Amino acid sequence: KTTKDEKIFLIMEEVANFYHQQLKGNERAKEYLKFRKVPSAMVERFMLGFSPSTEKLLEFLSTRGYLNEYEKTGNLYKYKDGSYRDIFLERLIIPIRDAKGRLVGFGGRTISDAQPKYINSPESSVFKKASVLFGLWQAKDYIREKQVAYLVEGYFDVIRMHSIGLKQTVAPLGTAFTQEHAGLLSRYAKRVILVFDGDEAGKKAVRTAASHLLSYGIEVFVCYLPEGEDPDSMGERDPKALENLINGAKNLFDLLIEEDNLKEYVYFAGFLQDGILKHELLTKLSRAKNIPIDSIYSMLPKKTQKKESSHGLSYYEKVFLIGLYRLKPKDVD
Ligand code: CTP
Ligand code: MN
Ligand code: MN
Ligand code: MN
Ligand code: MN
Repeated sequence: KTTKDEKIFLIMEEVANFYHQQLKGNERAKEYLKFRKVPSAMVERFMLGFSPSTEKLLEFLSTRGYLNEYEKTGNLYKYKDGSYRDIFLERLIIPIRDAKGRLVGFGGRTISDAQPKYINSPESSVFKKASVLFGLWQAKDYIREKQVAYLVEGYFDVIRMHSIGLKQTVAPLGTAFTQEHAGLLSRYAKRVILVFDGDEAGKKAVRTAASHLLSYGIEVFVCYLPEGEDPDSMGERDPKALENLINGAKNLFDLLIEEDNLKEYVYFAGFLQDGILKHELLTKLSRAKNIPIDSIYSMLPKKTQKKESSHGLSYYEKVFLIGLYRLKPKDVD
């Protein structure tokens, strides 16, 4: 099984390289990159490509003896009459690597106004969208070093952020941010800063991403972009302003206290698995808003509370808290 997958990674790598070479000879594609202000260093770093013709791809695959195998990845559409069509035809190619750097799929953006704007490789045994983060391969050393990751929504956002020096940036593949994505990030980062688009969808996405990240014990910071902007557009227009906005990102819980949004504060605290941290956060809210801690605990959603205790604390967590804060047993129960 492993060797079969390894063969696929190798073929994908060669196809990516083929697309990358095609880009260099295609004026329309190069014009598009110029229009999007993508520096050539980023074209190289992300090995961006272009698909100018199905025939050229087929010729490349046949010469190497890869056609049968590549067909199985679903990246080639086969008609009933046996002819093929590259599903990425006339699109800018964005190679997608897993955390180990293996080439698992492609994203394709139209360079005209063809619909849909983006397509991705279909899911397969080697390509699971819910567990891949675009840019992680390029970002992971930087994330590890700083223990901070920036999470954005799209491919061009990642590319722009890297190009202006914010190299700890990753994005899901147009799908929602999943529990698996959070687990993956938790291996590299203690803190994640959400830099989503300045629109309704972006605001909504904060909620899902935050809940998954918190359940992995990752600190969540949020920064809101001006209406209508995304990290790519803002980073192109005014990189310094984007960087300042990110440096000024606020801890989600602090933000919710400022917004007087107690309900959301308690809702998000409910995702924390670490009972001590949860207790600290709820105590902070209790003090900040002068609300008895018991009333705050009673606001926690029932399902996130553990059975052993009405406060979601295990016996050991209670003993620890009693020692740490010199509390009386009744204060933690
Ligand atoms: N997406 C998708 N299919 C679409 C639109 C978007 O898969 N029809 C995914 C892509 O991964 C995209 C991400 O969702 O990068 C964010 O969407 P959006 O903000 O609409 O696109 P941008 O990334 O801003 O695209 P661009 O700047 O290229 O217009
Ligand atoms: Mn190159
Ligand atoms: Mn958007
Ligand atoms: Mn966007
Ligand atoms: Mn955009």
